[in-house]
Amino acid sequence: MEAKPFLKWAGGKRQLLNELESALPREIKEKREIDIYIEPFAGGASFFFYLKSNYSVKKAYLLDINRDLMLCYRVIQSRVSELIENLKKMEKEYLELADSEREKKYYEVRTTFNIQKEEFDYTKLDKLAIQRVSQVIFLNRTCFNGLFRENKKGSFNVPFGRYKNPKICDQDNIYSVNEALKNTILMDGDFYSTKELIEKGAVIYLDPPYKPLGKTSNFTNYSKDGFSDTDQERLAEYAKYAKSRNAFVIISNSDPQNTKITDTYFDKLYSTFKIKKVNAKRSINSKATLRGNIKELLITSY
Ligand SMILES: C[S@@+](CC[C@H](N)C(=O)[O-])C[C@H]1O[C@@H](n2cnc3c(N)ncnc32)[C@H](O)[C@@H]1O
Repeated sequence: MEAKPFLKWAGGKRQLLNELESALPREIKEKREIDIYIEPFAGGASFFFYLKSNYSVKKAYLLDINRDLMLCYRVIQSRVSELIENLKKMEKEYLELADSEREKKYYEVRTTFNIQKEEFDYTKLDKLAIQRVSQVIFLNRTCFNGLFRENKKGSFNVPFGRYKNPKICDQDNIYSVNEALKNTILMDGDFYSTKELIEKGAVIYLDPPYKPLGKTSNFTNYSKDGFSDTDQERLAEYAKYAKSRNAFVIISNSDPQNTKITDTYFDKLYSTFKIKKVNAKRSINSKATLRGNIKELLITSY
């Protein structure tokens, strides 16, 4: 079974998969082989899972700044059956509760999750790690809209979502994710730390938090650190370095021309790259006019 993201993740790229695949270099599409794949803004890693099922990916690196997210990947990679056992138990207990009790349970889990974060040891893959990952998956499945969002203090702050029958333990998919994570190195931190992994022929997919469109649309807070224009510029520098090493770089970002036709921010930043506009449906936008079909950018180094 083809693995798909096990968390609903803001900015997930499932609807861009066709465009992303067609953006791959011709030789890679022909051979259906990737020696090294690097994804330093992994999130739900939709493209990674797609490639793992449809190409022979010899070695992959996934990184994200969100430590809880990367802990999930590590636990699924190395303690999958214990995780499933724990999730099944949580699911059973939750589904047996009345609506008001479910809400109470949700906020209990959310509070424990936030309090524990302060001094959690992310280096260990022990029982506590399995519990924490179960909490992430539980919250993702039962929260409003299934978003992972943290406030400035780094707390998970999404309210309760009223789902009748949430699938907290999607066992088949979690096992497929475990399979897909073979030959994959998992890291957390800032994207820049993957610079030393870059080599000739590597495929690097960069999907940073999008540059906000207009003033009210600033959904960049996946983690308390946010992603500023200075970060966008650091990323362009990273991408240029990768291009100079003859790696294949694909970058996705928002198209500022959706709201300001004269905005040439990315044209300037990526003047030596190829920029293509693609249609994308964005659901996470507070401005109704920006929902629906808008353009996004796919930028390639080749
Ligand atoms: C647009 S999302 C990626 C979505 C992903 N492609 C998918 O299909 O789900 C951007 C990700 O970048 C991560 N991020 C934010 N700042 C970062 C940084 N400085 N270094 C690495 N990752 C970062 C966020 O935690 C978030 O998961």
